[in-house]
Amino acid sequence: LIADVSLRRILDSRGNGTVEAEVTTDSGGFGRAAAPSGASTGEYEAIELEPAEAIAKARELAVPRLVGEVFAGDQRGVDQALHGADGTDDFSKIGANSAVAISMAAAKAGADTQGIPLYQHLGGAFRGRNFPVPLGNVVGGGEHAADATHIQEFLAAPVGAPSVVDAVFANAAVHQEVHDILTGRDIAAGKGDEGAWAPSVDDAEAFEIVAEATERVEDEFGFEVRMGLDVAGAELYDADEGVYSYGERTRDTAAQIDYIADLVDEYDLVYVEDPLDENDYEAFADLTERVGAETLICGDDLFVTNTDRLAEGIEQGAANSILIKPNQIGTLTDAFDAIELAVENGYEPVVSHRSGETEDATIAHLAVATDAPFIKTGTVGGERTAKLNELIRIEDNA
Ligand code: PGA
Ligand code: ZN
Repeated sequence: LIADVSLRRILDSRGNGTVEAEVTTDSGGFGRAAAPSGASTGEYEAIELEPAEAIAKARELAVPRLVGEVFAGDQRGVDQALHGADGTDDFSKIGANSAVAISMAAAKAGADTQGIPLYQHLGGAFRGRNFPVPLGNVVGGGEHAADATHIQEFLAAPVGAPSVVDAVFANAAVHQEVHDILTGRDIAAGKGDEGAWAPSVDDAEAFEIVAEATERVEDEFGFEVRMGLDVAGAELYDADEGVYSYGERTRDTAAQIDYIADLVDEYDLVYVEDPLDENDYEAFADLTERVGAETLICGDDLFVTNTDRLAEGIEQGAANSILIKPNQIGTLTDAFDAIELAVENGYEPVVSHRSGETEDATIAHLAVATDAPFIKTGTVGGERTAKLNELIRIEDNA
């Protein structure tokens, strides 16, 4: 049984506070995990509270339902206790940050108790054979960097990599090539919240630069490296005007669909996340039909890892892929249920970090445990490499 749950406030990668949880069990098992935090958060995400408040509420309401009551390895039991303690459908009482930290720490304690890796505890004995392709954020702007691109993330997608370690190094090489190309053009650039270059260029130039960088790395590494995007369309969308704003330039919904479909063709995009507003299932369905199954149209803010929202999307044919962020929904059980519903309906699950992160590497295990075809977890920076290096270790030990 769970013997203790302790909670504390620690730093995240933006210098903000976040919740860290530690779970210990009667039999000496231990797990520690921390909640990440978004900047371009979806309207329908579970609620993140101030860390101090989330911690106080979780201590008062959730810890008594866990200690001496539930086995750490009984993930559904743990997560049911969290839901029972909270009593709302968006974790607004104890905070999704407390909930997800406890949920993930309990999973690690459960794995530790059994002496098996986390991915195996979560996914079973046969997991660890298929590895996700890491999507590497190499250029970005939007809510993650001021004065940079309108599209939030330009991603490298090393789909032809023979192993995770090759894929991880290919993404790092694309990141470096982008820097070389920027330097060659006399464009200075700092980095955004996820470690991607954040140059003050328009989106058209960013496409050119990233396409050139991926081609160079494809030649150097000898396998296919494609491109992907997170448009974060909800952040561009002006609901009053009904247009997507790219600075001076605006596009109505039909023009936005045309624009994205043209980009898919021109740059052979393998992955496009949130190309449209989070409330527009219909536009998502139109675009999904138009690009076909070759390109993943992924719902992040659209679905927020929520099975009800995903069910609506399935009904309407909106997107063909779902981003999985455990903190959007609050527990690992809810994240698993979303993945299961997705897979049953032919939607590809893509496991993801947040722009505000910690050294926590749970999502690397989650991606392996669920056979997710892709994981989005950045390219450089310690809070990003924590996940990438964990994937390399899992591959090495599997
Ligand atoms: P966020 O951005 O973590 O700031 O929400 C990541 C994303 O939109 O995928
Ligand atoms: Zn996104």
